This record gives sequence, C-alpha cells and structure tokens, in this order.
Amino acid sequence: MITLVTGANRGIGREVSRQLAAAGHTVLVTARSAKAAEETARELGRDTVPLRLDVTAADLAGVVAEVDERYGRLDILVNNAAITYDTWQRAVEADLDVVREAAETNLYGPWRLIQTLLPLLRRSEHPRIVNVSSEAASLTNMGGGTPAYNASKVGLNALTRMLAAELRGDGILVNAVCPGWVATDMGGPGGRPVADGAAGIVWAATLPDGGPTGGFFRDGRPLPW
Ligand SMILES: NC(=O)c1ccc[n+]([C@@H]2O[C@H](COP(=O)([O-])OP(=O)(O)OC[C@H]3O[C@@H](n4cnc5c(N)ncnc54)[C@H](OP(=O)(O)O)[C@@H]3O)[C@@H](O)[C@H]2O)c1
Repeated sequence: MITLVTGANRGIGREVSRQLAAAGHTVLVTARSAKAAEETARELGRDTVPLRLDVTAADLAGVVAEVDERYGRLDILVNNAAITYDTWQRAVEADLDVVREAAETNLYGPWRLIQTLLPLLRRSEHPRIVNVSSEAASLTNMGGGTPAYNASKVGLNALTRMLAAELRGDGILVNAVCPGWVATDMGGPGGRPVADGAAGIVWAATLPDGGPTGGFFRDGRPLPW
C-alpha cells in the first residue's frame, strides 16, 4: 500500500505513519519542513519516504508529480495536519483572521490536496481517504468555544460527506475520524496515549472493500454528526 500522511513529523500523524509502516505500507511521511520530514523518515525507518508538503501551498503539482513518478498511484491519503485549537477565544468575539487561517490548513488544505491527488487515488485498487476530525465538530454535541477550530472541522466533516457520496461509485471510501483527546502538542498533557488515538485512524485507513464510507468514527465506532 502506498500511503500519504500529512503533518507526519510529530503527534498523531507521526504515530499513524509508524503504525502503517509497521503494517508493511510504504508511507510518504510529509511535513511542511523538508528537514522535519527527513528526520522523521530516518527515525521511523522501515519503508518510509520523506516528502515536503505544506497543505496550504497553492501549487501541489510537485507532490503529485513525485508520487506519480515513484509509484504511479496512491492508495491511502490521511489528512491529519491541523492548527489552531483556539481555547483562548469564543465565537462572539473571535478574530476572523484566525478563523480564516485555521480554515486554510484544516479545511481548504485537505480539500485541495484531495482534488489534486484524486487522479492517483483513482488508479488504486483499494483507495481510502481519512480526514482527521474531532468530536468538537459534532453539531449534536456543539457547545461554545474554540470557534476557529470547530468551524474548520465542521467544514471538514461536510467535505467528508460530500466526497463520500461523489466518490462512492469509484470505490473510494472517505471517512472522518476523531482520535479522542490525545496527549500531543495540540492536545496537551492528560490526554490518552498517542498510539490509542492513532489506532482509530489506522482502522479507517485500512478498511476492507465494502467498508463504511461517509461516516464519522472514533475507535471504529460511529460518532453523532
Ligand atoms: N490531540 C488531540 O487531542 C486531538 C483531538 C481531536 C482531534 N485531533 C486532530 O488530530 C490531528 C493531529 O493532531 P495532533 O494532536 O497530532 O497535533 P500536533 O501535535 O499539533 O501536530 C500537528 C501536525 O500538523 C502539522 N501541520 C500544521 N500545519 C501544517 C501545514 N500547513 N502543512 C503541513 N503540516 C502542517 C504540524 O507540522 P509542524 O511541526 O510543521 O507545525 C504537525 O506535524 C489534527 O487534525 C487534530 O485536529 C487531535
């Protein structure tokens, strides 16, 4: 399996890469810094390949060309990179520049990347897209706070639903996954181990043919939208 993970240099993305590489995947460990991608691939070992990828870059043609040239296809895309868990603000007074910036990375980045990589995913026998989301985006459970983050992840969930419907006929499974509260730089101390958060993402990335699509999951179990 040829698998690409965004934001793979630390946190959950790094652990997802580690677990998938251990399962025998060729993992393109991407990071916005080439150096970070290279260090991560070196540390993770196995069949990991470093690639520079900033999901906010307007032009992703170089990434596509590189994947195409090396493998001619992509099997799994894990949209993991995200920013701005804005615990310091509330919707009533939110800085909309911060909201817009979060959407660039958390929503438009994955959206553009999926569009760009779709021709390569269509060449896979078992294509999968996992959008790493958060229960904070559940409209059913929506409260106040972290407005930039929540709005961007709600958008990502909507994108997941639309793409799943549009790509169902092509056999591309598209799901949103919440890793739970995980002890990373973003999650802070107190969350569960990163391996546990990553496992639910790996589950969605390796679903069998005929598996669910257009769903929202944590630990392989459905979450309310
Ligand atoms: N941790 C939690 O409790 C929790 C809970 C629910 C959902 N999530 C979700 O899980 C995912 C991973 O979170 P995490 O806790 O591992 O976060 P993290 O520790 O803050 O790591 C974020 C990763 O995203 C990368 N990134 C940020 N902007 C990028 C860009 N423009 N292009 C490429 N990469 C970029 C970072 O790279 P740099 O090193 O270059 O900054 C880093 O590798 C996110 O989607 C997050 O929303 C996390």
